[in-house]
Amino acid sequence: MEQYIIKGGKPLSGEVTISGYKNAALGIIAAAVMTDETVIINNVPKVKDIELLLKAIEDIGAKVEYSKNSVKINGSNISSVSVDFDYIRKIRASYYLLGALLGKYNNAAVALPGGCNIGSRPIDQHIKGFEALGSEVKIEHGLIKANTDQLTGAHIYFDGSSVGATINTMLAACLAEGQTTLENAAKEPHVVDVANFLNSMGANIKGAGTDVIRIKGVSKLHGSEYSIIPDQIEAGTFMFAAAASKGDVLIKNVIPKHLEAFTAKLLEIGAEVEEFDDAIRVKASGRLGNTHVKTLVYPGFLTDMQPQMTTLLAVSKGTSIVTESIFENRFKYVDELSRMGASIKVESNTAIIDGVERLTGAAVSAPDLRAGAALVIAGLMAEGFTTVENVEYIERGYEFFEYKMQQLGADIVKVDSEDTKAIKKFKLKVG
Ligand code: UD1
Repeated sequence: MEQYIIKGGKPLSGEVTISGYKNAALGIIAAAVMTDETVIINNVPKVKDIELLLKAIEDIGAKVEYSKNSVKINGSNISSVSVDFDYIRKIRASYYLLGALLGKYNNAAVALPGGCNIGSRPIDQHIKGFEALGSEVKIEHGLIKANTDQLTGAHIYFDGSSVGATINTMLAACLAEGQTTLENAAKEPHVVDVANFLNSMGANIKGAGTDVIRIKGVSKLHGSEYSIIPDQIEAGTFMFAAAASKGDVLIKNVIPKHLEAFTAKLLEIGAEVEEFDDAIRVKASGRLGNTHVKTLVYPGFLTDMQPQMTTLLAVSKGTSIVTESIFENRFKYVDELSRMGASIKVESNTAIIDGVERLTGAAVSAPDLRAGAALVIAGLMAEGFTTVENVEYIERGYEFFEYKMQQLGADIVKVDSEDTKAIKKFKLKVG
């Protein structure tokens, strides 16, 4: 098993370039199979979740060519509309293939999704969307099956704002007959990016980024070349890592507007943040202050940045409160932070954080993707050595994570937990 070993205490400094947004890429890759023409997608992050989704579309007959951060996809030879592979259950966004294949072939079956274990993750709103478009939806033998003779546009009011349900229904509705209106739609940047990509393929989607999306069905989609937006979560993670390490980092290839909720909190607790057209600089010195944070749908504070925020507040002055309102079980990493000396009490969906002067290095284990990144941030701040196990979670969503950290001066290395020689070598090197 691979693990990160981190020697804490060094401020991060220099420049880091943010990769394409994994969560947008997942929707866009699924959408790419909806045309028989070739699609080229640029700025695709090389991360595990993307590799798995590409493998899934290859397995059903799509042609996939991956070079550097570009992927060429041709879905004209798709031979099966059933996506049921062991590995596909590991990624939550595999369900986007349901909307994409249902739209294109009126028929799809996809293994029920897995993904990060951060609480119960129902798919009732996806099903509501497909049924409203005239599809029958069944769950049988671990598969969600959707089929219809003809998808027909509909007026759909989602019960809650869901990124997944909005994108999935939008995918199917693009090729439905007539007009679809999605109300209470999710407004997250990746909903907009998937809509822009679909429009570049000839779809007719208006209003993405607001809570009402209007889609006029078209009879077919065509090829396109498209570049994915920068990853707001990776950018946010480096912003918080810069502040936590009392560093000074220029984070390049970002859309500052997507980072406003993080910028506002960093400024509030005393960090310096400077915005440029497509870059952001975060600088901190000394101990930061306390605050209250509640995770919300966009443009509120993103739930995927909650563990990184809590970790930063664990060493800030005073008492902070972090409330998680999107996923019910997203504080599992707190036990790991406690092993490093943090003082955090979790009561239902709220963490009460008494900032301590310092964390101390310990062996910890990443419980999920974003919490894994947060534990690396904790390691950067801690005195001595921290070992973060289960790095495969982190690699699901962060491209070249330890390499980018190393470029900023962090003492971090990825080693096999059995490789005692490499572990010893790293420890000797960094002292
Ligand atoms: C996406 C992101 C994830 C992020 C989340 C919230 C991807 C691949 N993942 O996840 O990183 O944390 O948005 O910004 O883009 N819900 C229902 N019924 C449904 C669907 C969702 O009740 O049918 C609930 C969920 O339990 C959750 C809330 O709605 O409480 C938001 O979930 P949703 O926006 O759908 O998250 P995902 O698309 O799974």
